[in-house]
Amino acid sequence: MKLKRIASIKLKSALLILSTENTSAKEVENTFDSSINEWLKSKDDFLFLKLNTGMIFFIKEGLTNEKYRVLGHKIRTLIERTEKNVFVHGNNSETIFSLVEGFCLSSYQFLKYKKEKKNLQYSLDTIHLSDVLTEEKVTFLNHTLNAVYWTRDMVNEPVSYLNATNFSNEIVSLFSKIKDTKVNVLEKSKIEALKMGGLLSVNKGSQDPPTFTIIEYKPKKVKNKKPIVLVGKGVTYDTGGLSLKPTAGSMDSMKCDMAGAAMMVGAIYLCAKLLLPVHLICLIPATDNRPGENAYTPGDIIHIMDGTSVEVLNTDAEGRLILADALAYSKKYTPDLVINAATLTGAAVMAIGTKAACMMSNAENKTNQMLVEAGNKVHERVVELPFWDEYLEDMKSSIADFKNIGGKYAGMISAGKFLEHFAPKPFVHIDIAGPSFLESEENYKGKGGTGFGVRIITEFIHNYLA
Ligand code: BES
Ligand code: MG
Ligand code: ZN
Repeated sequence: MKLKRIASIKLKSALLILSTENTSAKEVENTFDSSINEWLKSKDDFLFLKLNTGMIFFIKEGLTNEKYRVLGHKIRTLIERTEKNVFVHGNNSETIFSLVEGFCLSSYQFLKYKKEKKNLQYSLDTIHLSDVLTEEKVTFLNHTLNAVYWTRDMVNEPVSYLNATNFSNEIVSLFSKIKDTKVNVLEKSKIEALKMGGLLSVNKGSQDPPTFTIIEYKPKKVKNKKPIVLVGKGVTYDTGGLSLKPTAGSMDSMKCDMAGAAMMVGAIYLCAKLLLPVHLICLIPATDNRPGENAYTPGDIIHIMDGTSVEVLNTDAEGRLILADALAYSKKYTPDLVINAATLTGAAVMAIGTKAACMMSNAENKTNQMLVEAGNKVHERVVELPFWDEYLEDMKSSIADFKNIGGKYAGMISAGKFLEHFAPKPFVHIDIAGPSFLESEENYKGKGGTGFGVRIITEFIHNYLA
C-alpha cells in the first residue's frame, strides 16, 4: 500500500472526509447538506454514504486520537474489496494522521502460508492524503508501518520456519541496507565461550542452536554519550520444556514468545529509518524451549554469564534465564538506560489482560513518566507496578544464589526483580505477555501478533533525547 500526498481541499465544516473518489469540497458540502446537518446533531462519530460511483465517509472532528485509529479500522472493514484508492481530506493534520494510522495498521495481512494469496489480498493500493499532512509526517507513517508490519510478521511466523538461526537471518536482512547500523550474530561456540549458561541451558532440549544477536545503531551525530540498550526475549517457541505446558490454551500461541525481541528489533529499525540522533544497542538472545533428550531439568543448577548460580525449579520459567545473560552482557556498554521487553509471565496477563503491558523500573520518575506518556500517546499503554526489593526474597534459593521461580503471588514482579539483579542501572522491564498477541481480533491490532511496543519505544526515545 502506498501513501501519496495530494492538494488539500478546504472544508467549511470541522470534518474529516474519506472517500473512494477525489470529490471536491463543494460537491461534498452541497450535495449532502441535509443528511450532514442531521448527522452532525447526532451522536454518531461518522456518516457513511454510498454514491453511484463510490463511497464517502464523513467523520467528526474533536475526538481522541485513539477514536480515529479505531474509526480508521472500522472504515477499512466497510470499504468494498474492489476499491483501489481512497482519498482523505480534513483540516487537522493530527486527526488525519491517526485515522490513516488506524486504517493502515488494520490493513495488515499475514498471507505467507495461504495458497490463494492473490485472491485474499486487500485490493487497496494507494491512500491519497491531503497535503495538510506534511511530507515528513507521511514518511514517518510509512516507516512506522514497515516496522510494525515486520514485527507482526515475525511474531506470526511459526517455529517450523522461525528458529533462532532463521530469526537472526531475518534480522540481518532487515538491516542490510540501513545506514549507520551493524548486526553481529553470535553463534553457539561464541555463546559457549562467553559462558551464557542461561541461554545454553534453555537450549539444551532443542535440535536447533541458539543465537545471540547484537544490533548497533550509531549515526555520526548522537545526543547521548552512553548508549541506550534494548533487550528482547527471543524464545522462538515455548513448550515449557520438561515442565511441559498443557497444550490447549497455553501452548497454542507460544510461537509469540519472541514478541519482545521482535518489538525491540522493530523499534531500533524504526529509530534508524527516522535518522534519530541516538546511539542504540539491541540485544536478542534466541532459542526455543523444548523437552528434548538432553533438556535442562527442574533441580539443575546453572550459571549465568556473570557467575550467578540459579536453581531451576521450573523449566517453563525460561525467559528470565536467557534474559539474565543478555542483561549481564549489556553491562559492557555502561548504558545510559536499559529497557527489557518480554512475554515473560502469565501473571502479567492475569493482572491487566491484553489492554496494556506491565512496566517495572528502577529508573528516575521522569523516565518512567515519559514512558507512560509515550504509551498513552500511541496507545501502547504501560502500567507501572511496584518494584520493591522485598519481592526479590521470593527468588532466593537455599542452595544457589537464586531460583528461577517465585511464590504464588505477583509473579510478574518477582520475575522482574530477578532480571534487575543482572542488569546495569537504570533498568526498565516491560512484560508484554498480554498485549503482544491476541487470540481474537481487537480492532486495528488484528488477531495474532500486534506489533505492540514498536511505537511506544520509538516515541519514548524521540522524547528522551529532546
Ligand atoms: N512465555 C511464558 C509466559 C506467557 C504466558 C507469555 C502467556 C504469553 C502468554 C513464560 O515463559 C512462562 O511460561 N512463564 C511462566 C512462569 C512460571 C513457571 C513461574 C508463567 O507465567 O506461568
Ligand atoms: Mg515458559
Ligand atoms: Zn516463555
